[in-house]
Amino acid sequence: MTGKELTEILEDSSPERTAALFAEAYRVKKGTVGECVYLRGLVEISNICRKNCLYCGIRRDNSSTGRYELDSAVVMEAAGFAAAEGYGSLVIQGGERTDRKFIDKITELLVEIKRKWPLGITLSLGEQPEEVYREWFEAGAHRYLLRIESSTRELYEKIHPVDSVHSFGTRLRALENLRKCGYQVGTGVMIGLPFQNAAHLADDLLFFRSMDIDMCGMGPYLEHSETPLYAYRNLIPSKERRLELSLKMVALLRLLMPDINIAATTAMQVLAPDGRERAIMAGANVLMPNLTLSEVREEYQIYQNKPGVGEDAALSSSSTEERLRKMKIPIGYGRWGDSLHFSKR
Ligand code: 5AD
Ligand code: SF4
Repeated sequence: MTGKELTEILEDSSPERTAALFAEAYRVKKGTVGECVYLRGLVEISNICRKNCLYCGIRRDNSSTGRYELDSAVVMEAAGFAAAEGYGSLVIQGGERTDRKFIDKITELLVEIKRKWPLGITLSLGEQPEEVYREWFEAGAHRYLLRIESSTRELYEKIHPVDSVHSFGTRLRALENLRKCGYQVGTGVMIGLPFQNAAHLADDLLFFRSMDIDMCGMGPYLEHSETPLYAYRNLIPSKERRLELSLKMVALLRLLMPDINIAATTAMQVLAPDGRERAIMAGANVLMPNLTLSEVREEYQIYQNKPGVGEDAALSSSSTEERLRKMKIPIGYGRWGDSLHFSKR
């Protein structure tokens, strides 16, 4: 598919053709990675961040949110919960921090977790020097998520401050460094941003293919009142349109890259209670139940109205699994669910 064809499909509003696209993506998923959905327990280790992305609720300059960092013991408890529940993997996500104390803490946690449980570990801790990526890989992490946010430089620069901490070039190099270190590399974008059109999204899909990514997590942009981008909220598509665009992006990516892992993201669930289940029906095969303890959950609000705030880990995981069971979707318990694309490379 060319950029022009992808753009046309994204712009098309026919419900019949959209339903056919989702069905085709599901069929392709079933024939390549299979019907199984893999669960990754998500731990939001810290909402302290050195960056100031113009869309994000935990950006450095947002003084209206409290800041926290989980103790290692709490992370270990969450890892134990994930293992006991039969989740194959854990995702450790957090704001971008480059202090040595934090880097060492992650390294030690990785070693500890790998010693105790056979969990696969994905990290999502932003841009780091190549040596840090290597250190964490050697300590036991084997997948890394770093969203490009938008693959169009001009758009990237409209949603980030333009300075050396927020450089598009550095982001691209970080993705290359992750690959060099041996990680399964995941990236993704936000969908329905101000200043973004369907052609940008089509370019994002082609970017994923040209980067030969192993995994993808993308979701709708959700406006946050304590961020600068909120001023442009009149420029964004309706909630329905943002969700539909996000589902179409999942489906088109499944057709373009049949054997990668694609996440059904929490942001989709904000726009519709069954948003993540619909993403699974449109070609996604990974789900990340939130294991962050309810005490700090409300402080990890990259966007507002995040679902599950006030729920604890046991509750969010059982509701997710219950919904999948009802849909008769098999769950890949106890398996890492690595990217098939990666193992074939
Ligand atoms: N809406 C949707 N997604 C957001 N993210 C950050 N802020 C928002 C927002 N307002 C996403 C970014 C980031 C990930 C951790 O969360 O894509 O990479
Ligand atoms: Fe920090 Fe990520 Fe939010 Fe940017 S999007 S401010 S890097 S947590």
